[in-house]
Amino acid sequence: MNILITGSRGQLGSQLMAMKWPGNTLYGYDLDMDITDRGAVQKTFEKVKPQAVIHCAAYTDVDGCEKHPKMCYAVNTRGTYNLVREAKAYHADFLLISTDYVFDGKKNAPYTEQDPPHPLSVYGDSKYQAEQVLEDYLDHYYLVRTTGIYSRFGKNFVDTIIKAAQKNSQLDIVNDQVCTPTYSLDLARCVHALMDSQKYGVYHATNAGQCTWYDFACRIFELLDFAVQLNPIASHRLGRQAQRPAYSVLENRNLEKNNICHMRSWKEALGDFLLHDYPPLNHGQNQ
Ligand SMILES: NC(=O)c1ccc[n+]([C@@H]2O[C@H](COP(=O)([O-])OP(=O)(O)OC[C@H]3O[C@@H](n4cnc5c(N)ncnc54)[C@H](OP(=O)(O)O)[C@@H]3O)[C@@H](O)[C@H]2O)c1
Repeated sequence: MNILITGSRGQLGSQLMAMKWPGNTLYGYDLDMDITDRGAVQKTFEKVKPQAVIHCAAYTDVDGCEKHPKMCYAVNTRGTYNLVREAKAYHADFLLISTDYVFDGKKNAPYTEQDPPHPLSVYGDSKYQAEQVLEDYLDHYYLVRTTGIYSRFGKNFVDTIIKAAQKNSQLDIVNDQVCTPTYSLDLARCVHALMDSQKYGVYHATNAGQCTWYDFACRIFELLDFAVQLNPIASHRLGRQAQRPAYSVLENRNLEKNNICHMRSWKEALGDFLLHDYPPLNHGQNQ
């Protein structure tokens, strides 16, 4: 099967490209197929003739989306539409990666796939509208919502705070947003299992358990045995443009029910990542 992966130089796209896909040929595209350009998308489909599309490309700068909403909707919603239109013409399976930010965080219990979205931010709304494009145009699709991806590729919370701790003896970390950080490798394995399953539908796919970003940071430095003072703060102190859900834990109900894959706890996944996937630290810089 020819599989077209968008956002192939991003965190999840890179992880998917790095995996083995026996019996399949992967075609990774990033900004070399600008998904906002319908002609470029058409040409790529003509060349690749995909039987499946894994759509990871997105404008993921959540605060940037508030400042540049036109660009955000062009990439996240219209870009998805351009891909969906071609996928439909080619009868290709379609998997969209979406986000916990489609929810408003007022539930205070893990969100299931049946809960109605109510995004708080431009980014969340652009992704929710992308979800609706799938529902409107495709009969068979996988809609996969995840949270807080980290990986050895690209920009993410783990890498950012480790680098910050190498330059500062104290860090302020948000302690009033609860979610579940998710290791790209576990998510990629789950995407692989879903594509094999042909059990189409809406899925939540995150590591198990929940924590605040502060809890997560404490665990990172504990595992690294790295001394830094972490100060728990309220998110409003950061003065960020986009409102984020205070609680966006997702329950992987459909993954479990359909026996697709079981996601391990965030603590176990983080330990594995830091031990096997993250480059060794130069502890000297912390002394
Ligand atoms: N990261 C998270 O914590 C998180 C949480 C929940 C859901 N998600 C969703 O999961 C998916 C993968 O996330 P990720 O962290 O892997 O994202 P990422 O690292 O930001 O990768 C996205 C990729 O898409 C590319 N891209 C941006 N605009 C494009 C365009 N017009 N045409 C083609 N490619 C374009 C980006 O290029 P540039 O970097 O050069 O712009 C980047 O390489 C996204 O759909 C995101 O919405 C992410």
